[in-house]
Amino acid sequence: MNEPQNNNENSVKPIYIRPIDHGDKAWVASLINEIWGSVQMVVRGSIYHVNELPGFIAILEDEPVGLVTYFLENGDCEIISLDSTIEGIGMGSTLIETIKKFAREEGCKRLRLITTNDNTKALRFWQKRGFRLKTVYPNAIDKSRELKPEIPLLGNDDIPIRDEIELEMIL
Ligand SMILES: CC(C)(COP(=O)(O)OP(=O)(O)OC[C@H]1O[C@@H](n2cnc3c(N)ncnc32)[C@H](O)[C@@H]1OP(=O)(O)O)[C@@H](O)C(=O)NCCC(=O)NCCS
Repeated sequence: MNEPQNNNENSVKPIYIRPIDHGDKAWVASLINEIWGSVQMVVRGSIYHVNELPGFIAILEDEPVGLVTYFLENGDCEIISLDSTIEGIGMGSTLIETIKKFAREEGCKRLRLITTNDNTKALRFWQKRGFRLKTVYPNAIDKSRELKPEIPLLGNDDIPIRDEIELEMIL
């Protein structure tokens, strides 16, 4: 495992980041199920099985505590999921720095992701880390619900989940 990658003085213990390996699949599935209701994630009308995707895991005191997964296509690195089980200690930021570095090394020109209109916390998080709003897809979640009916009608802060919002970072 590499040197700890968070230099956050307020963090009690260091966070380590490593690629997902086969032995992590059960943990990845249970985390994604718990947070998103299913390992299937619908992004722009396509279904991704998050537990089958490559990605990076954040480790704190020998336990997995955070996850980012991605999909490489046409020179883009698309972030399919980012989840932190202990918020506010720098784990999300560390995972983003890791995937940014990885995408550059892979020769990607762009890092992109989709979030939903209710996820104001994520919109704040991504924009503070250099991502720009690219496109709004109004009512895209109607189509997503056809593929994944368990997507709730109301999301964060009881905001109706309706639209997909694409953010990007040019690398
Ligand atoms: C969005 C998400 C991934 C952020 O993860 P996180 O681990 O909390 O991220 P960080 O700790 O790096 O940053 C969160 C905030 O804590 C602050 N922070 C970091 N370390 C800190 C510390 N030691 N003390 C106090 N604050 C700290 C950061 O500055 C940041 O605030 P800012 O956005 O105003 O700059 C997380 O909220 C999450 O899992 N959300 C649910 C899933 C989700 O919506 N994912 C995104 C899908 S598009």
